[in-house]
Amino acid sequence: MRMTGWLALGLGVSGAVLFTVVAAGATTETSQDAAALRGDADRGRVLFEAYTCYGCHGYTGETGFGPRLNPPRHDQAEFVQYLRNPRNPRRMPPYQQDDASDQKLADIFAYLTSLPSASPEAESIPLLQAILTGDENADNPPH
Ligand code: HEC
Repeated sequence: MRMTGWLALGLGVSGAVLFTVVAAGATTETSQDAAALRGDADRGRVLFEAYTCYGCHGYTGETGFGPRLNPPRHDQAEFVQYLRNPRNPRRMPPYQQDDASDQKLADIFAYLTSLPSASPEAESIPLLQAILTGDENADNPPH
């Protein structure tokens, strides 16, 4: 059954279909209840470092060569599913149940969700604002 999952991956099916194939093939132990787990952000922070996620995504999930994780783009169930079967496993390593349980991934998700964004809003950067409004000679905004 494992082949089916990889074959499906190779065919580049959508995440939704892949989820179904993987669930049907039972190649991973991903629980249907991943959405219901309650994550612990403090434990998640420790795990984010232990699993070296920070090495590719940065300590705040906003830097590094991997994509931004802050704010999270997925909900918790999708997040767990993604970590089991990342689209590009040669770039983003898969994390399997026996090592990284659903609960641990839920903890990491809670940590990422708890992070404030360190990036300022575009509106608060005068030069960006000038570019966005097309007024490059704009004086500094009053505030
Ligand atoms: C070796 C570097 C590396 C490590 C370690 C790593 N990632 Fe990634 N991650 C990536 C890259 C690169 C991508 C983008 C993959 C692609 O191009 O599809 C990615 C993608 C992701 C995504 C999807 C983001 C999106 O918006 O699509 C999530 C979520 C994620 N990583 C979470 C984690 C977590 C949590 C950990 C630790 C448990 C982790 N990653 C460890 C490199 C890494």
